[in-house]
Amino acid sequence: MVPEQVRRRVQELRREIHYHNHRYYVLNDPVVTDAEYDALMMELRQLEAAYPDLVTPDSPTQRVGAPPVEAFERVRHPAPIISLDNTFSGDDIRAWRERIGRLLPPSTRLDYVVEPKIDGLSVVLHYRDGVFVLGATRGDGERGENITANLRTVRQLPLHIPARPDGPAPPPYLVVRGEAHMTVRDFESFNREQAERGEKTFANPRNAAAGSLRQLDSSITASRPLSLLCYTVVAYEGEPAPPSTQVETLAYLAGLGFPVPQVAVHFDDLESVIAFCQEWVGKRDTLPYEIDGMVIKINDLRVAADLGIVGRTPRGAIAFKFPGREATTVLREIRVNVGRIGTLTPYAVLEPVSIGGVTVSRATLHNFDYIAANDIREGDRVIVKRAGDVIPQIVRPIVDLRTGAEKPYVMPDRCPACGEPVSKTAGEVAVYCVNAACPAQVARRIEHFASRGAMDIETLGEKTVALLVDRGLVEDVGDLYSLRAEDLVGLEGFAEKKAENLVAGIAASKERSLSRVLTGLGIRHVGGIVADTLVRHFGSIDALAAATAEELQAVEGIGPAIAQAVVDWFSRPRNRRVIEKLRRAGVRLEEEMVEAGPQPLAGLTFVITGTLSRPRQQVAEMIEGWGGKVTGSVSARTSYLVVGESPGGTKCRRAQELGVPVIDEAALMALAGGAKQPPLPLE
Ligand code: IVH
Repeated sequence: MVPEQVRRRVQELRREIHYHNHRYYVLNDPVVTDAEYDALMMELRQLEAAYPDLVTPDSPTQRVGAPPVEAFERVRHPAPIISLDNTFSGDDIRAWRERIGRLLPPSTRLDYVVEPKIDGLSVVLHYRDGVFVLGATRGDGERGENITANLRTVRQLPLHIPARPDGPAPPPYLVVRGEAHMTVRDFESFNREQAERGEKTFANPRNAAAGSLRQLDSSITASRPLSLLCYTVVAYEGEPAPPSTQVETLAYLAGLGFPVPQVAVHFDDLESVIAFCQEWVGKRDTLPYEIDGMVIKINDLRVAADLGIVGRTPRGAIAFKFPGREATTVLREIRVNVGRIGTLTPYAVLEPVSIGGVTVSRATLHNFDYIAANDIREGDRVIVKRAGDVIPQIVRPIVDLRTGAEKPYVMPDRCPACGEPVSKTAGEVAVYCVNAACPAQVARRIEHFASRGAMDIETLGEKTVALLVDRGLVEDVGDLYSLRAEDLVGLEGFAEKKAENLVAGIAASKERSLSRVLTGLGIRHVGGIVADTLVRHFGSIDALAAATAEELQAVEGIGPAIAQAVVDWFSRPRNRRVIEKLRRAGVRLEEEMVEAGPQPLAGLTFVITGTLSRPRQQVAEMIEGWGGKVTGSVSARTSYLVVGESPGGTKCRRAQELGVPVIDEAALMALAGGAKQPPLPLE
């Protein structure tokens, strides 16, 4: 049985958290500090842990990902999820207007809404009584894939409507269409982190968003920075009538708590629409996400619906596509980069060429399969594309311009850095250098360890790392701490002062938190957020090293891929030796209790009444050990009344009057759940 007050408190917490999520993620205008938000989340998590029956799919705690699935199931859309026809010029747009004009009464005046065409992935979101119940990809337009668990992790997606306490009520059934995407900034840092961790990188934000949403393990999706913008009501049942114009639709969706495009302009005449679209060709990079054009929509949704659909595209809306940002140049040479875990990635060295005002002399070739599939040769004239601020890429060679002097590319069978044979697993794209002592890998691992997101050793830049590895002074991150200034003096560019600074910079990093140390180790999938979670749960590197995959997976936010990666990493003797070197050097490998995680009862005030399983004083000390406060009488500031047998009537009555939740001893223990047991005083 769940006490009524707990039920109410859970509802209240959810309402508040939904509200703060909306302020933070959708409106970019938070009204509480991170710490205040965290405290609310923690209280909710603990109550849900104590009363699992209270967990609902729309609870804000459910954004961490669900157990992995074998495959996505197919779901039928309530209405066809259509795409748009393209136009490329003002004349194309005028021709579209003329075509639809022929189908409308001659005097019809049309007005339009123009929105950015977000370069993402169409998603279809179903709500029943305001609860997000199903989310699907577009698929073939009739049926998509059920990616609900993944979409639930997207912070901007309302799990519950109304998101704001004063927001409009949702209809009983609502289906909304939007575009899941990754902002350019998020994409760049995500891709950088992926590369640093030796993981798959993506060619553009669209692919990164699509790849993230198609993960069978939603805890991976949860760790990716996905965003969302919504623009259409696909299906609607209930009162009042749904919005009848696009202007109203966007206002309606925003009111319900959905993120909507910041740019959406209403026009009465087509020439202004055209001018606006053309103006945005030069302004496309001013938005935080990539757009590949603008969408022109007839504002009156009834007129648009009456115009019907031709094939798979509606007559009532059209896309204006921006010119691609491509140029041609000569590919001089294909070089290979060796990543932290030995992944070999080819890149192109180009004859410098200006694309959209930026000089491009390097471009990614993604992987060796890409070179083979497109038959890209050294010496080829190639099409290079630069999308947003993203790394330029080779689209394809211009085969017709070949002279015969081009050199077909042969994938290296040896690592360009260490000369050891490379390894390729059948069915996998990646090619690896499996020599863990490969100097390029060693250098990448040390660079990662010293990087800003990890140990932040400013004095240890790429050049210095290359030098240290080249001279055999360091073989792993553990060796950094035994470097002495005298070992360095005399090395290229190293005078005494610089040597001392480097040693001091490395020594200072011993004080960094365990979470940073863990991030720096470069375990697959373990970036800053995952490292924080692991440290909060395990508290020390030894406890983490001893954890089994099952124990790791039991931690909220840790899925099977992460769990296995951690177990694998610690199972390698070489990695164990690195940990021992770090330990000997005095690098922080455990966190103090208080830092091991926020105290679970911090900020909460308790009153105890009745007989508990142990003396009341002892329970009070336990609560205090967990960061809570204990007072003698119930007031509006009391968070919980803990009742034992034969409780005092006054306290219970007062709690009821003030709406203070009443819990039993078991619920108290569960509330303290995530905590390490504080020492129990002897009886
Ligand atoms: S409206 C009838 N609006 O572009 C409604 N689509 O080829 C059709 N897209 O598949 C979609 N931003 O995934 C619409 N503001 C926007 C959009 C947008 C991006 C995508 C959508 C669609 C594709 C059209």
